[in-house]
Amino acid sequence: MHILKLKTALNKNPFIKKTLHWLIVPPGEHQPRWWAKNILNPFIHNYQGKIKRKVRRDLFPFQTCEIGKGARVEDFTVLNNGVGALHIGEGSRIGIGNVLIGPIKIGKNCLTAQYIVISGLNHNYQDTTRPILEQGVSTKQVTLKDGCWIGANCTIVAGVTIGKNAVVGAGSVVTKDVPDYAVAVGNPAKVVKILTEKERKIYDFDLSLNQTA
Ligand SMILES: CC(C)(COP(=O)(O)OP(=O)(O)OC[C@H]1O[C@@H](n2cnc3c(N)ncnc32)[C@H](O)[C@@H]1OP(=O)(O)O)[C@@H](O)C(=O)NCCC(=O)NCCS
Repeated sequence: MHILKLKTALNKNPFIKKTLHWLIVPPGEHQPRWWAKNILNPFIHNYQGKIKRKVRRDLFPFQTCEIGKGARVEDFTVLNNGVGALHIGEGSRIGIGNVLIGPIKIGKNCLTAQYIVISGLNHNYQDTTRPILEQGVSTKQVTLKDGCWIGANCTIVAGVTIGKNAVVGAGSVVTKDVPDYAVAVGNPAKVVKILTEKERKIYDFDLSLNQTA
């Protein structure tokens, strides 16, 4: 809430806004300065989970970033909130080498495997007189509902919602919403099954009791 108030105040004073932006981001760069990342952000963002040391944090103080309690972000992942907020819910696990570009809302206890790209950002491309990189961007939030699992090497595009406890098969490109309890696979990802109430099982997570073989 305090970020919103600050944004409103800054919008009324373009000079201070420009100066502050320069202090946070070097001209022409897409990464915050060291002091913004390491000194300013921890006061503004809510990091309760663990971000491993080799995570690239393209995190800016002027957008939200929340890493919930017990959540874990593995090495070689890129976290970017430059154009939209990042929320990683309690207990969620972000695997090695993911690229997360907000706006993204990841629920509780979600699993993303290795080398996944999730982007709430698209580049505008409709103006054919200019290169795409000069046309700005548009954003639509990607949502991962509680308990879902995204297989390795997937891409999830802007605006998509992955349902509760849904599965996305390895190597899929997800362009449409995936319903709760569904398994979706392929490029473009299609739903191949949805667990009915009868098919759902309850597992006992105490591994010591599960060694039946
Ligand atoms: C999706 C997955 C969980 C299998 O789920 P399942 O419920 O056992 O599904 P099935 O094996 O019955 O497959 C159903 C159909 O989808 C196909 N399919 C399964 N996974 C697929 C994938 N990743 N890409 C494309 N098609 C796939 C199967 O070939 C099968 O097709 P068919 O009906 O024409 O034979 C598994 O294949 C997968 O992709 N796991 C992710 C593994 C991973 O990323 N691990 C990283 C460590 S976390």
